[in-house]
This record gives sequence, C-alpha cells and structure tokens, in this order.
Amino acid sequence: MAFDPFGASADSLKFLDAEPGAGQRWSTWPASSPTERGPLPHPAWLETSAAAFDTELGIVKTGKEADVFLLERAVPGQDGSALAAKRYRTPDRSDFQRSHQYEEGRRLRNTRDARAVAGKSSYGKSVAAAHWASSEFAALRTAWEAGIPVPYPVQLSGTELLMEFIGHGRTAAPRLAQARLTTDEYADAFTQVVAILGAFARSGHAHGDLSAYNLLVRDGRVMVIDLPQLVDLAANPSGVDYLHRDVVNVCTWFRRHGVDADAEALFADLVAQLW
Ligand SMILES: Nc1ncnc2c1ncn2[C@@H]1O[C@H](COP(=O)(O)OP(=O)(O)OP(=O)(O)O)[C@@H](O)[C@H]1O
Ligand SMILES: [Mg+2]
Repeated sequence: MAFDPFGASADSLKFLDAEPGAGQRWSTWPASSPTERGPLPHPAWLETSAAAFDTELGIVKTGKEADVFLLERAVPGQDGSALAAKRYRTPDRSDFQRSHQYEEGRRLRNTRDARAVAGKSSYGKSVAAAHWASSEFAALRTAWEAGIPVPYPVQLSGTELLMEFIGHGRTAAPRLAQARLTTDEYADAFTQVVAILGAFARSGHAHGDLSAYNLLVRDGRVMVIDLPQLVDLAANPSGVDYLHRDVVNVCTWFRRHGVDADAEALFADLVAQLW
C-alpha cells in the first residue's frame, strides 16, 4: 500500500475535487441571504455545507401552478438532507413566443391594450411565480414559528421554495385523502386537525385552502402543506369566511370517514380563540 502522509485513503479523498454532474448543482445555501433562509435555529438534519451538491431525485407531483421535486442536498459521499423543491411555474418558451406575438399585433393600436397584454406577459407571469413562492415561504415561517406542524422552510430562491421533505427515504408521505386509516386513526387525525386549526386561529390566521389534499400523514402525525394563500384574519375582511370554509371542508371529509365532526360547533369554538 502506498505511503499516505495525511492518513486518508485515496478513496476518502476522491470527492475533494468533485464537480456537480448531470442533475446536480452546487448547494444554493451558501449564496443565500439570511432572509432567504428558514428560521433559527436551523434543524440539525439540515445540510449547510458549502461543499454540498443538490441532486435531483425526481418529481413528486406536478400541479397547476407549481411542481414539487425531491432533492438531496449532500456533501458527496456523505449522508445529506432530503428536501422538497416546490417550483412555481414560469411561462415556457412557447408561451413566451405566443404572448410576444400577441403583444406585437396589438402594440400600435392602443396603449391601454398594450398595458393589459403586458399584465399577462411572460415577465408578469414570472413575477407572479416569484411572488407565490415568497408568500408561501413567509407563510411556512409564520406557521413554523407558531408551532404548527408544517415542513421546515429551508430556503427561498426566486420561484423555488425548498422545504423539509415529508416522507420515508425517497417516498413521499401520503396525503390524508389517500391514507388508509383505521376508525381510531381517523378520529386521532381529526383531533390533530382541530389542534392545527386552533393554532392557526390563535396566531390570527386561516390556512385558506385546507383539505384532505393539503394534509400529509407520516407515522400517524398530520402535517399541513400548501400555504401560499395563508389568510390574515385581522387584515382580510373576508378572513372569517375563509376560516369557515376550511372548517366545513375538513369536517365534511371526516364525517364521510365516520368521524363525528360538527363544523358549526368547531367554527364557533375557533372564533372564540381568535385574538
Ligand atoms: N414537503 C413535502 N414533502 C413531501 N411531499 C410534498 C411536500 N410538499 C408537497 N408535497 C407533495 O406535492 C403535492 C403538491 O404540493 P402542494 O399541495 O403544495 O402544491 P399544489 O401546487 O397546490 O398542488 P395541488 O394543485 O395538487 O394542490 C402534495 O400533495 C404532496 O403530495
Ligand atoms: Mg395542494
């Protein structure tokens, strides 16, 4: 065996000069500012090394406005963190060309039209995507700091939101709508959802789109996702209507699964907890 002055085998050193390969990039963490990072303290599982790569491990789900991908952030050769990357859609190239042609045809006629078209331009859509990503990042921070069980918000970069991946290994946890639970487990899940609604209400918020599709179940624990539209109950004149809709949505779903969920009683109880 060759003499090794540093006491390290060639095998353990081979990653030192590694470069990101296909489906990889350098971790975006070192270049991010504190306002683009999740709340302190950062969880122990979070990989923050400047030597880490982000590796794409596939798509979790495509949606109307965003797609969710599984990403591993790790120093090559070491264990890393599994992250969910929610990427809000920006217009693709064909959309861009279409809106560009549309704009050109209209440009000379009427400046008001031009402005209206500009409102739907690819630039406008990119701004909207970044806006939704930053709204959801802020909402996750708010919920996390209020002790609500949400994925830890890791990082915001433009139209991409990185958060804790809720799952086992590389398999995402099922949504409540798909989880096959026993009668007792449904009742327990409902108790957890009531606690979640209470914690949102006491923090002055309603989720705004709460349903069995935006709740994940991992190891019997219910977690809330999909928060870009978090409703501020003090600032929004229709806020209490959103809260009511959330309560009716989940209670209707749980009643169909055999849980004695009384939406109006729960709503009254939550309103009493506001402020
Ligand atoms: N942090 C996460 N960990 C694991 N899976 C996740 C996570 N976030 C989202 N997912 C998966 O991706 C799906 C879509 O996420 P989300 O609901 O936030 O986006 P959406 O654009 O609103 O999608 P949809 O239109 O289906 O509601 C979720 O239903 C869930 O299956
Ligand atoms: Mg959703």
